[in-house]
Amino acid sequence: MMTSRTSLLPATPLKLLVTVWLGILSSIQARQWPLRASNKDHVPASFDCEMRKAAYAYGKKLIPRHGKFEALYWALDLKHCNVDLSKDEHGELLTRDGTATSRRHLKRKGHEEIASIPPDAVFVAVDGTDDDVDSGTLSSPFQSLQKAVDYAATHTSSKHVRVREGVFYLNQTLLLTPQHSGLQILAYPGESPTFSGGIPLQIINEWKPYHPPNNKNKTNIWVTSLGNQLDGEMPGLQINGVRSTVARYPNMDGGIEVSCGYGCMIPGNQATWDPPKNANKQKQKVVHYTDSNKTRARPNGGWFEHYTIGVHGPCDVYDPPVSYWCSEHPSGGGAFAFITPSGMTPKDAAVLPNGPYYSDQSMQEDARIFVWRPARWANWMFRVGAYNNQTQHVTFGAGGNQGARGEKQGGDWFIENLLEELDSPNEFYYDPRTHKLYLWYNGTGAPPPDTEMVVPQLRTLVNATGTQWNPVVNITLRGITFRATRYTYMDPHGVPSGGDWALERNGAVFLQGTRQMTLDQCTFERLDSNGVMISGYNRNTTVQNCDFAYIGGTAMASWGYTNETDTDPGRPGVHLQGAPAAGVDGTDGEHPKYNTIQGCTAREVGLYEKQASFYMQAKTAYSTLTGNVFFNGPRAGINFNDGFAGGDELYHNLVFSTCRESGDHGPFNSWDRQPFLTYKDGLEEPTMFSEWRRIHHNFFIDNYSPQENVDNDDGSARFHTHDNFFVYGGQGMKNDFGGCDNWHYRNIYAYVGKAIFSMKQIKGHEDHFFENRVIMTQENVGSFQCDGDGAFVFGNNSYYTASGNVTECKMSLEEWQRHGNDLNSTSSEYPKDDEIIHWAKSLLGF
Ligand SMILES: *[C@@H]1O[C@H](CO)[C@@H](O)[C@H](O)[C@H]1NC(C)=O
Ligand SMILES: *[C@@H]1O[C@H](CO)[C@@H](O)[C@H](O)[C@H]1NC(C)=O
Ligand SMILES: *[C@@H]1O[C@H](CO)[C@@H](O)[C@H](O)[C@H]1NC(C)=O
Ligand SMILES: *[C@@H]1O[C@H](CO)[C@@H](O)[C@H](O)[C@H]1NC(C)=O
Ligand SMILES: *[C@@H]1O[C@H](CO)[C@@H](O)[C@H](O)[C@H]1NC(C)=O
Ligand SMILES: *[C@@H]1O[C@H](CO)[C@@H](O)[C@H](O)[C@H]1NC(C)=O
Ligand SMILES: *[C@@H]1O[C@H](CO)[C@@H](O)[C@H](O)[C@H]1NC(C)=O
Ligand SMILES: *[C@@H]1O[C@H](CO)[C@@H](O)[C@H](O)[C@H]1NC(C)=O
Ligand SMILES: *[C@@H]1O[C@H](CO)[C@@H](O)[C@H](O)[C@H]1NC(C)=O
Ligand SMILES: *[C@@H]1O[C@H](CO)[C@@H](O)[C@H](O)[C@H]1NC(C)=O
Ligand SMILES: *[C@@H]1O[C@H](CO)[C@@H](O)[C@H](O)[C@H]1NC(C)=O
Ligand SMILES: *[C@@H]1O[C@H](CO)[C@@H](O)[C@H](O)[C@H]1NC(C)=O
Repeated sequence: MMTSRTSLLPATPLKLLVTVWLGILSSIQARQWPLRASNKDHVPASFDCEMRKAAYAYGKKLIPRHGKFEALYWALDLKHCNVDLSKDEHGELLTRDGTATSRRHLKRKGHEEIASIPPDAVFVAVDGTDDDVDSGTLSSPFQSLQKAVDYAATHTSSKHVRVREGVFYLNQTLLLTPQHSGLQILAYPGESPTFSGGIPLQIINEWKPYHPPNNKNKTNIWVTSLGNQLDGEMPGLQINGVRSTVARYPNMDGGIEVSCGYGCMIPGNQATWDPPKNANKQKQKVVHYTDSNKTRARPNGGWFEHYTIGVHGPCDVYDPPVSYWCSEHPSGGGAFAFITPSGMTPKDAAVLPNGPYYSDQSMQEDARIFVWRPARWANWMFRVGAYNNQTQHVTFGAGGNQGARGEKQGGDWFIENLLEELDSPNEFYYDPRTHKLYLWYNGTGAPPPDTEMVVPQLRTLVNATGTQWNPVVNITLRGITFRATRYTYMDPHGVPSGGDWALERNGAVFLQGTRQMTLDQCTFERLDSNGVMISGYNRNTTVQNCDFAYIGGTAMASWGYTNETDTDPGRPGVHLQGAPAAGVDGTDGEHPKYNTIQGCTAREVGLYEKQASFYMQAKTAYSTLTGNVFFNGPRAGINFNDGFAGGDELYHNLVFSTCRESGDHGPFNSWDRQPFLTYKDGLEEPTMFSEWRRIHHNFFIDNYSPQENVDNDDGSARFHTHDNFFVYGGQGMKNDFGGCDNWHYRNIYAYVGKAIFSMKQIKGHEDHFFENRVIMTQENVGSFQCDGDGAFVFGNNSYYTASGNVTECKMSLEEWQRHGNDLNSTSSEYPKDDEIIHWAKSLLGF
């Protein structure tokens, strides 16, 4: 007899979620609002608090589902502004216009949704079964997600899958192919299922106390043998849903999930660095594409006018082995060809006080050294190739490919995964040779028997892969939580385009060769690699109402292809035509177009890979980012690695506390060092120019970085940045090294150092700056081309300084205006705090 697939079942309580939430709160509560802007001494404290309160109000308005949005409250450190969280909203959910919706209403909606589940829907539950012929019904659900989606795709007309509450520990990636097109994979109403890439550990042998031989300190270290539960190393460990830290030096008092800022590192000058190995230049091929039809105008003596790349040679560390930085003479700020040091020696024995490491074997097989590129542009991770236990000299083994920019020396660094470094609460070390797990349990005594321990294992949880010609179309994943993928920073990395990034082409959710895919109301949490990877051909990918937190790499990345090499591991079995010169050519459409990222939150990203963002894109066109709240990241908040086709729009986003562990950049950063031939909407013929991009109506706070909210770096061009509220930063606008056509207008810059930093321009591609309100801590409006062809274009600005006076091109404003410049602009003394906040609110509409 056919059983109906739908009926009303009570929703199970969300105990696990509550536990995890408390974990999150405890780890962020401790921090204080940092105002690290170089000009912070000039910022009135009263303004800072009023501004943070406004950011809180705006963030709650953008993400009503978070109610009082505790994480935002703590990240803005509003306690120190005398805002009381408990007095706020009482946990009611707010709608966009600020009216409260009661949870009862949501429950009623859940019931309505149950009634609307189609009769042939397929159900899947952790305690289901895959053998029964009747499997997939509500009363007899499947256990395997793959079986459920396969069955729904082939045996139902509704193509509707409902996932029940519980943690699905996946031992294989859920594969979605073109045959699965049209599927809806949705959480059961009122339930919150989890796809985990982890292995739940079983403690089969009793925990025994472990006393480190040379440590007199009181420790709480326990050891147990796991038998054959793991195949090889232990890539990570999550205890009751929160990460444990790999044993390391220097320690992190708050553990890996709490950013140390610039701390928890050994300074780069505490080691001597071995020179880079000579690259094999035999196979190296450099393309400098000078076809006169494939160039674009740029002001800086020819920089970035032509497409340039190098294949092999120093790029043999990448897969595919290609990068802008492997051409012989790349241009750009601080530019030279890619290299990394080949080893290092600590300056003296005190640098690694717990060394020398007595186990040469674990040193060579387990230990990893993380090295910031000097100036903290990215970090390189190396395995240890060889170790000398007398001098502590380390020869680097595999690695060093996690960033695109090189240096002959290393910057700040740390070492991890050594038993000798297990000396701090919540650190662990696993010896794959003896299967022993050593853990400093952060509590009293041994871990209690009900402790949940999960080892991240799988790299990808969902893989939707088709091709441009046979795509995966129109699949929605809704209400799913993704957790516990393993780290991939030692995996092959590629250089996505001419920016500073290197990246692994992977994520917990991987999309390639798709159309109209939707991730809705999903949670991405404690993934050790990237969250979502939108790779190659994709059209109209939507990520909406999703929350990303505690991500090892980047929350969302989008990365297209051009033919730079004959083969690419991302397109297995395909011979790519025209490489490497066809690298300039994006007309074959093998790239993401029309991504929409809306209503999402992302925070605490880049726990391992430091060149990590909330969203980054390379070789991607026409993206929309709107209504998102992003905070707490090590480097730029949103990164555009190239100009590609352009046409992107960013509006109504709140972004702050970026560059917490690095300098330069800010909430947004772009580079544009390689031109591409691409199609533009509305034009028949492809062109070498990117379509204009718009950044408007955003609330950005540059509270960590000393630079600017929108960092338009090397070659960036064709930006309309307008109607934003930008708080802090060294300068309001930046356009450097070969950038042009940069327009800033109707923005409010609150307490920037100066208004403008812009380099030489060419006629017809000038930068513009008008109708802005600039509250500056210096009197000098900035540096820009004062006269001649390409002179900076401005007017109608309102400048505010402590004295009420400003200077431009070494003249007073009056004198400068008498020469016909910056007409109609005014200067006055600082406005009051509430006046600035009022301007911001009316600009952004809240
Ligand atoms: C994978 O997981 C399924 C469902 O939990 C289980 O039945 C199967 O034995 C596992 N396979 C392997 C290879 O571990
Ligand atoms: C996408 O799939 C849904 C559900 O299967 C269906 O209702 C909808 O019509 C599809 N949309 C398109 C554009 O194919
Ligand atoms: C013992 O603890 C102190 C204080 O935390 C620390 O400075 C010292 O390095 C520790 N000694 C060892 C051998 O771990
Ligand atoms: C250890 O536990 C205490 C109390 O729960 C907590 O405050 C602290 O952050 C934890 N330390 C680490 C490194 O997780
Ligand atoms: C450049 O473009 C012009 C006009 O479209 C065309 O006539 C010419 O052949 C092109 N040159 C090359 C080298 O492709
Ligand atoms: C130090 O290294 C030497 C040479 O590899 C090795 O023979 C010796 O056992 C090591 N010493 C210790 C204490 O591990
Ligand atoms: C996704 O699946 C395709 C097809 O099976 C495979 O070639 C590819 O390696 C997978 N990618 C990832 C990131 O898992
Ligand atoms: C994809 O996005 C573009 C741009 O927003 C839009 O014009 C187009 O209709 C979308 N296509 C589909 C199938 O949704
Ligand atoms: C790249 O290679 C693919 C596969 O051979 C081919 O279909 C495509 O046209 C090539 N693109 C360009 C721009 O040459
Ligand atoms: C200033 O505003 C006036 C009137 O709106 C306008 O005509 C003029 O072009 C503006 N100047 C600049 C440089 O934007
Ligand atoms: C502002 O500039 C005017 C004219 O140059 C000068 O007289 C005045 O003293 C300046 N005010 C301050 C506070 O520096
Ligand atoms: C100055 O601003 C006023 C008022 O907006 C406008 O009428 C006038 O045209 C502007 N003048 C210039 C030279 O931009």
